[in-house]
Amino acid sequence: MFDLTTVGKYLVQEGSSLQSQYLDLLTLRFERWWEDLSEGLEVYGSRFTEDHMSRLVRMIVKHACERPEDLRRLDEVRVLRPNWFQSQKMVGYATYVDRFAGTLKGLQQRIDYLEELGVTYLHLMPLLQPRSGDSDGGYAVQDYSKVRADLGTMEDLEDLATSLRRRGISLVMDLVLNHVAMEHQWAQKAREGDEFYRDFFLVFPDREIPDQYERTLPEVFPDFAPGNFTFDEALDGWVWTTFNSFQWDLNWANPEVFLAFVDIVLSLANRGVEVLRLDAIAFLWKRIGTDCQNQPEVHEITKALRAVARIVAPGLIFKAEAIVGPSDLIAYLGVGHNRGKVCDLAYHNSLMVQIWSMFAARDVRLGAFALGKIPSKAPTSAWITYLRCHDDIGWAIDDLDAASVGLDGYAHRKFLSDFYSGEFIGSYAEGLVFQANPLTGDRRISGSAASLAGISRAGDDRQLLDLAICRIAASYSLVMAFGGIPVIWMGDEVGLLNDDHWSEEEGHQGDNRWVHRPKMDWNLVDDKGVHEVNQRILNKLMHLIGVRKGLMALDAAVETEVLDIIDPSILPLIRRHHEGSLMILTNVSEGVRYYPISEIFNNGISRPYDALSSQYLKADQNGYVKFEPYDHYWILQGE
Ligand code: GLC
Repeated sequence: MFDLTTVGKYLVQEGSSLQSQYLDLLTLRFERWWEDLSEGLEVYGSRFTEDHMSRLVRMIVKHACERPEDLRRLDEVRVLRPNWFQSQKMVGYATYVDRFAGTLKGLQQRIDYLEELGVTYLHLMPLLQPRSGDSDGGYAVQDYSKVRADLGTMEDLEDLATSLRRRGISLVMDLVLNHVAMEHQWAQKAREGDEFYRDFFLVFPDREIPDQYERTLPEVFPDFAPGNFTFDEALDGWVWTTFNSFQWDLNWANPEVFLAFVDIVLSLANRGVEVLRLDAIAFLWKRIGTDCQNQPEVHEITKALRAVARIVAPGLIFKAEAIVGPSDLIAYLGVGHNRGKVCDLAYHNSLMVQIWSMFAARDVRLGAFALGKIPSKAPTSAWITYLRCHDDIGWAIDDLDAASVGLDGYAHRKFLSDFYSGEFIGSYAEGLVFQANPLTGDRRISGSAASLAGISRAGDDRQLLDLAICRIAASYSLVMAFGGIPVIWMGDEVGLLNDDHWSEEEGHQGDNRWVHRPKMDWNLVDDKGVHEVNQRILNKLMHLIGVRKGLMALDAAVETEVLDIIDPSILPLIRRHHEGSLMILTNVSEGVRYYPISEIFNNGISRPYDALSSQYLKADQNGYVKFEPYDHYWILQGE
């Protein structure tokens, strides 16, 4: 539809005010990413007009002119080292600004703490101006150009990004692009009858089409927001609302929505954001007769956005928040003609779910099977590995996977919900059921890592506490050693428990995910020695982080392989790096287990050395290595 020569001419016209050297660079980048951009824009066909294209180029030039000098320098650094985010030195942390440090300025005072932890990537939960009252934790944005007033200003955000960058920490922020708050000015204008903005949303005059869609659509919040459409009086129609009724899905088939987001993406990049988390990206494109997730157009739109970002801000990378099955997930990291062209990072939801599942079952067979069959990702990309985040845990256990290891999927999912809600007899966990859905039998779980892993239920029982601490360490060991950027959910490092007062805050009633979004308790960190349990957890995590940073085999370009199961409670993983393999063995049970040392030898490690304990592994007279409860070894070839 457009050719590079014509578009290149726009660039020269628009860019006449740019320094000639910079215009040259921009032109080179434009040429480099033109194929991605034009391929991506094909989803719009003839709806993407000359006018759109010239406005797009104008926007590119405007933001390129505004890009601050130090960020242009960062761009050069990133271009020279495009695999920066794959390094084993990367460690992430995710938190709400207010719950961690009060304000953006307050957060400046906590950078030392993050640095001491070894953090190089900081995801700040939604902080742009949300609607008032319930805003789904900030995921209902009212104004993308402002920071939530009680947290600070855009200038504070810029200052923070700069301070973080100077300390080697990349700022990560959400880009909520599937929906906006119904109070956003686009929605308000649509409600006032403005046709241009009505077309920003998916509005239907009656139930005919919505009912057709509903036949194949799942419900995200069946409890507090059943259905996927909401009737709005002012619109006199049904508007698409996948999440809450106040979060209006955008019509991404409209090129105006694309242009509006180009502006937002580039503005955030110019404030110093280095990673954009593409929230709920799977839902962007709707197609009747499907679940309206993971449609191919989603990847094309991501590709076009990414190409634009690469032209203006090559330092910026994209992270997919797609909580979908592994076979769909892999496409977010680029497959086929999209390899290397969409997101660089994606949450490894399956790993998270399987970790909780293996520990509850004291059995790794299902986890090993499910993880073992995940297709390998593009070598230029990386997983985000995590144990907990701000969301609930949905039991994404595939029926066929379960059947392959002799389990019934439904029964296992039920077991996990019962176990982690604490209803299962003998369970050590203390969690809450989130969004029970009687139709599907789904019962997701809320709860902090420490409470789900048994710290709260252990009470003062030393032995139970010891076990719970080891369980957390073993779980986090998998997060740290699986490969990718491990992200610590705020408070996990000191074992913060469930917040029993979660429902008392305005707008939080009814959404029990707030149970695991407590305020940071700085006393636990500061009063060294007073809170022994918390200190022990912190020490264990810091140790894992320290060792991780020195292990080249943890570079994210290397894939993790699952080895054959010898003992059902020991998960055997290997990362075959060309400089030497790393074998990761984890006992997911509180039992004493044994593993044949010959298996380690067979994987090319003849002098097994555990990097975590700095000791050589020894076998007993029968040739077995002993595992105490929750023992985990990171095994390398010794000298
Ligand atoms: C993502 C967020 C979740 C939010 C949803 C809607 O899944 O992680 O917290 O409710 O998107 O924005």
